[in-house]
Amino acid sequence: MSHAHTPGNGGADHPAAPMVEEITDFEVLEIAVRELAIEHGLFTAEDHRRFTEWAESIGPAAGSRLVAKAWTDPAFKARLLEDAVKACKEIGIDWAEPTGFGTPSDYMNLRVLEDTPTLHHVIVCTLCSCYPRPLLGMSPEWYRTTNYRRRLVRWPRQVLAEFGLILPPEVEVRVEDSNQKCRFMVLPVRPEGTENWTEEQLAEIVTRDCMIGVALPRPGRTADVHPMHKARRPVKGQAHSGEAAHESKK
Ligand SMILES: [Fe+2]
Repeated sequence: MSHAHTPGNGGADHPAAPMVEEITDFEVLEIAVRELAIEHGLFTAEDHRRFTEWAESIGPAAGSRLVAKAWTDPAFKARLLEDAVKACKEIGIDWAEPTGFGTPSDYMNLRVLEDTPTLHHVIVCTLCSCYPRPLLGMSPEWYRTTNYRRRLVRWPRQVLAEFGLILPPEVEVRVEDSNQKCRFMVLPVRPEGTENWTEEQLAEIVTRDCMIGVALPRPGRTADVHPMHKARRPVKGQAHSGEAAHESKK
């Protein structure tokens, strides 16, 4: 892109770029609701600060422990699939009061989705960004993008391939859409080559992405890295104009 500079007008035809990202409508709404809540005494600014620091400090370690325990203890796995909220208490996660300092949770329905060699789950929240935070911490930025949310439900295999996860056609892919009433977490298949591993060793390879369903655990893979993969078989002719505009910005 080239800019024609007109000498002598001090660059008045070039409005200064904003120094920070524009604030979104959602952020404006959040600030307004928060300030109202503080004003009406629902919670204090200090409560809010404390909660935000807690929310940003928790990572996916609890989820990793949960999966490792389910892999090594069939009775625990059965309890986890039956009532995940109850089973979480066994590893010290209380969904009713996850912070430990009196901030109750607004949702109490966690479902753990068990993968099999022929069934793969992946989670999304198409409406916003619902996510099992007490177990996995804050959601990754890409999970909250409209790009991920709208494309995963339409072209799950293509989106997974962009994460580097290419599933054979015989594996059924099931996308679960989280919402305010129900949160999901994926229980991946325990990989080969981990037969004599301890729970601690197993937990190391159960990364956040494995529990969202955009990666598979394997020995030696202990971190989520996202190389940019071009779609191998890009869908042509189905994208609506908004989609095409969004894609072209990449
Ligand atoms: Fe949501």
